[in-house]
Amino acid sequence: SKKYRSFKPVHLRDRTWPDAVITKAPIWLSTDLRDGNQALIEPMNQARKLRMFEQLVKIGFKEIEVGFPSASETEFGFLRHLIDNNLIPDDVTVQVLTPAREALIRRTFESLKGAKRAIVHFYHAVAPVMRRVVFDMTQDQVIEELAIKHATLIKELAAQNPGTDWRFEYSPEMFSGTELEFSKRAVDAVVEAIGATKERPVIINLPSTVEHSTPNIFADMIEWMHRNVAKREAIILSVHPHNDRGTGTAAGEFAVMAGADRVEGCLFGSGERTGNVDVVNIALNLYSQGINPGLDFSNIDEIRQCAEYCTQLPVHPRHPYVGDLVYTSFSGSHQDAIKKAFSARKEGDIWEMPYLPLDPMDLGRSYEAVIRVNSQSGKGGIAYLMEAEHGAVLPRRLQIEFSGVVQEVTDASGKEVTAADLWTIFQREYLET
Ligand code: KIV
Ligand code: ZN
Repeated sequence: SKKYRSFKPVHLRDRTWPDAVITKAPIWLSTDLRDGNQALIEPMNQARKLRMFEQLVKIGFKEIEVGFPSASETEFGFLRHLIDNNLIPDDVTVQVLTPAREALIRRTFESLKGAKRAIVHFYHAVAPVMRRVVFDMTQDQVIEELAIKHATLIKELAAQNPGTDWRFEYSPEMFSGTELEFSKRAVDAVVEAIGATKERPVIINLPSTVEHSTPNIFADMIEWMHRNVAKREAIILSVHPHNDRGTGTAAGEFAVMAGADRVEGCLFGSGERTGNVDVVNIALNLYSQGINPGLDFSNIDEIRQCAEYCTQLPVHPRHPYVGDLVYTSFSGSHQDAIKKAFSARKEGDIWEMPYLPLDPMDLGRSYEAVIRVNSQSGKGGIAYLMEAEHGAVLPRRLQIEFSGVVQEVTDASGKEVTAADLWTIFQREYLET
């Protein structure tokens, strides 16, 4: 008997997304301080949350989910700290999460008293497994008792606090494991209950709470919703991919091609289990294709240090765009090609560099790390470092001879040699006779 379910593509007569390309950046939401935080071994304290918030503002996020204020005093207190101390810039909107439960929604509104702008994000599960096993409700009950009832309450509470510019977000949780027709019913009901319009749209956030399928299937589901919801013009269509299969980035990108307007994720893929989608990855993929992501990663190392400090989790050395080793080339043929391409480059040329997807300088990384030397390296890298680091231009015959000397050292040690080591070896070999 079969233990696992396979997910079939959704039937779409004129499927559009596989031919599409992304032509502009989506709206971004950082959920580092909520989904990212809730998955940490040690959740961020107020000081860490504040440091992360400031970093997210600096990167350029205009929508930041700052927490789950009804969940704990720390979460509630952090939001109060931001509001009471006027720490939210005028062009930034804070978002907060609440489950579809009356007491928790009321507490959430208390936490937002005095905010100039806010997005209230409410969610409840819609998936059959949750309906059957967790809360034992029929589809009709879910629509009436979870979706409509709480959307109406949220609208009323917002109306009672007219000093805040309110927006609303609804997530049918576990959308990725739910019948599409039922997700559509829930979404249509909420859009209606909130009274969303083209001028005052509601954010409908479709999560792959658990990433169950290949990214094309998730994109099919997004495209189906994009085409079939009753009032598409009154919706900002958002996606919230997780990364259980390791394909969160692809899912996010395909979803944007399929019609999503907005992407929720975390820096470097922090978040529940295998993480939320890595917004840095999607943004820099766009950047490397000439699309302005609207987020500033020109100091990627500072951002990484901040994320590592706040989450207490290290970023992998091979993490796309940011890892310690990603602008480093050890192999001789790569080094040689990069060296030649650097010398051939002129000011204003498009980036056409073997083995480097983008210019590390754009992210505040330096070329110094590009060429490193170990037993896999050839004369090109050695000559490059000797010239770049020590001003020594080696004639071709000497390059060949010296690389043989270095090879003996690296073969014996099995280790990398630094530019300083190269100079020591060179001195020993040729200058100290
Ligand atoms: O992954 C998820 O489904 C969530 C929701 C609360 C949006 O984080
Ligand atoms: Zn999530």
